[in-house]
Order: sequence, then C-alpha cells, then structure tokens
Amino acid sequence: MSISPISPTSSHCIYWVSDHTADPPTVGHCHRFPPGVTVNPETGVIVQKFPTTERRQWCGEWSDDAEALAAAAKMPRPSFEAPMNVSNLLQRSDLPFLLACLMALHVFAFSSTPPAHGAEPGEASEISRGGKLYDNHWLVTGKQPPEQPNPLFPVGVKTTAANTWRCVSCHGWDYSGRAGELGDVSKSKTFHSLRPAAGRSPTTLIKLMQAPGHKDNLQGLTGGQIDTLAHFVSTGQFAFSAIIVGGKPVGDPLLGKDIFEGVCVSCHQADGKAYFQGEDGDRSSLGWVAHNRPAQALHKIMNGVPSADMLSLRFLPEKRLADLLAYLQTLDDKGGQ
Ligand code: HEC
Ligand code: HEC
Repeated sequence: MSISPISPTSSHCIYWVSDHTADPPTVGHCHRFPPGVTVNPETGVIVQKFPTTERRQWCGEWSDDAEALAAAAKMPRPSFEAPMNVSNLLQRSDLPFLLACLMALHVFAFSSTPPAHGAEPGEASEISRGGKLYDNHWLVTGKQPPEQPNPLFPVGVKTTAANTWRCVSCHGWDYSGRAGELGDVSKSKTFHSLRPAAGRSPTTLIKLMQAPGHKDNLQGLTGGQIDTLAHFVSTGQFAFSAIIVGGKPVGDPLLGKDIFEGVCVSCHQADGKAYFQGEDGDRSSLGWVAHNRPAQALHKIMNGVPSADMLSLRFLPEKRLADLLAYLQTLDDKGGQ
C-alpha cells in the first residue's frame, strides 16, 4: 500500500471520493472543474453534480495534461459565485470542492516541472519552500550532510548526525526552542526560540543567522536559500499556542472532517493510515502523529514535506488548521508501523 499522488493529470478531474462500496473502493464520484451545475427552480438551491465513475477511470478524462488542468482551475468562476477569494470560499458549504480547486494550483506550485506557461511561484509557495528548507534542507537540496554531527548541537541529545544540522532540530516544530516541545528533550540554551523573530525584517534575520557562532549551522545552503529561510522565519510561523490550548486543538472536528474528506483521503485514505515514512519514531498513522506530534503535523500540513508529494495548505487560516487537527485527532492512532 502506498500513497498515490493526486497531482492532477487530467484536464477535468480534480479529485475522487470513493463511495466505500468495497475495499479497496471500486466506485466513487469524480469531482471535476467546472462542475455540472443545476438549479432547483422551486427553491433556488444550486446543486453541483458529479459523475459516478469506476475506480481508476478517473472520469475517463485523464489526459496527462497538467497544463490544461491548471488553466481550467484558473478559469473565471461560474457567475453565481462571489469573486475568488479565500476567506469567502472558506465560509461555503461546498468547501472541499473549492479547496480542491485552489489546491490544483498549489500542487503545481511545488512540482518539479512547472507548467509550461511559467506561472511565477506565489508568495505562499515561496514561504512553504522556506518551511521545507527549515524542516530538512538536505532533502530539499539533495546535498549530503557532513558525516560528523554539528559541533554546535547540544551534547547528550541523541539523534542522527544528519539531524543535528536541521533548523528544526534546534528551533522546534513549534519554533519555540526549549520554551516549547523541545524543552522536553533538553533545556539547553542552544534550543533557541524563533517566536520573537516573527515579524522582524528578513535582512536583520540574515545578519543574525550569519553571525559567528551561528553561521556554521548554514552549511550547504546558498545565499538564495538563506534568504528564503529568513522570509519563512519572518512571515511563515504559525502560532502553535493559538491552535492548541490546554493540550487540545481549539477547532471543530466536524469542519475538519470536511477538509480531510475533500483533500486528504485520496492520498492518506479514510483512516489516515496509508503508508508514509515520516520522522524517526513516527507511526504511519495521521491519528498518531496528530496526537503525539501535533506541531510537526501542523508544520508539514502548512508547508508540505521535503522530497514528498504532500500538499502545502498555507492558505488555510489558523482556525481551519485547528479544525483539521481536531479531526485528525479523532482518527484511530494505533497501528501503522
Ligand atoms: C545547533 C543548533 C542550531 C541550528 C541547527 C540552527 N540554529 Fe538558528 N539559532 C541557534 C541559536 C542557539 C540561536 C541564538 C543565537 C546564537 O546563539 O547564535 C539561533 C538564532 C537564529 C536566528 C536569529 C534569531 C534570534 O533570535 O537571534 C535565526 C533567524 C535562526 N537561528 C534561524 C535558523 C535557521 C533558518 C536554521 C537552519 C538553517 C538554523 N537557525 C539552524 C541554534 C541553531
Ligand atoms: C498528493 C497526496 C497527498 C495529499 C492530497 C495529502 N498528503 Fe499528506 N502526505 C503525503 C505524502 C507523500 C507525505 C510524506 C510521507 C512520508 O514522509 O513518507 C505526507 C505527509 C503528511 C504528514 C506528515 C506525517 C509525518 O509524521 O511526517 C501529515 C501530518 C499529512 N501528510 C497530513 C495531510 C493532511 C491533513 C492532508 C489534507 C489536508 C494531506 N496530508 C493531504 C501526501 C499527501
């Protein structure tokens, strides 16, 4: 069992929801753009119709034509809709479908072969690139980490040599260093919080990162990548303390379920247990990760995963992230390897 990317390769089909008639499901609904739209003349209710398809037929419209889909997703919205605007969309009841439309563009934003018409990477995708570098720049750049552990890393904290060179290993998935979840690992001053650095100018942050005593942590990174990282630290952090309060996400799991079923199941499956590798010690179960490593889960949901075909949902506001996390925590957290 492996995660199959839904990077759209059809000119119409955006995503596919199984009807759970069999395991693996054989029948489902293809959600396409633009949808078939009908209006109930009595109530005025607008209904979007999706064709029923057989698994793997993918609406019978797969054409391997990524460019055509990107263009379709950018087409003018049907006239009954308010202008394309994320905060508007997020209040709509057909949220999963609309998220998927937005997502189609995001998928291209980090695919290694950009669409031929060469869309500029948006700011959000640039920031999530910074988030992926922060997570593991060796995986992003494909360079080999030094064989020796980072001499600046606290002695006595057990991890692999390669991990001692990652930003996240000293600053944390919640960016709070020893003031956050890394405090359970060590109280070393090396586990320094970057929370006060949020909002500071990237130019200042670059200077601080390149100061003697920290510069050696930047091995293997180009000037451009350091710049991207500084922008991420300045504008890309989420406030963990606004999403988790008293150990619980402040979200509504039912709203989170909508997002999950709309955008995540096709890769992670309904139980969240489609195989993934994850970090050392992770179980291959989104329920497990959401319970035991919520900050890591949030960082990866917002920024994607280095060298993996995972989405970056940076456009979701913190409230929706809390909903999503609350739902993930309702998933079975056992099992997985
Ligand atoms: C070995 C641990 C370690 C690693 C790895 C590390 N840092 Fe740091 N970082 C620190 C410490 C400690 C400080 C506080 C200043 C100092 O002592 O140099 C700091 C300071 C900073 C600052 C300045 C903020 C401030 O409050 O002064 C930024 C920005 C920063 N780090 C970003 C990064 C990024 C991005 C990476 C990954 C490329 C990274 N760091 C890797 C330990 C680390
Ligand atoms: C295009 C397929 C795809 C979609 C859609 C997708 N993911 Fe992922 N996801 C992945 C892949 C691939 C990984 C990395 C697996 C690995 O590390 O081996 C991943 C990793 C993750 C991780 C990190 C797990 C860890 O411990 O490292 C989380 C959390 C996650 N996904 C949540 C979500 C959520 C929530 C959604 C929906 C909002 C979603 N994913 C949608 C493919 C996808």
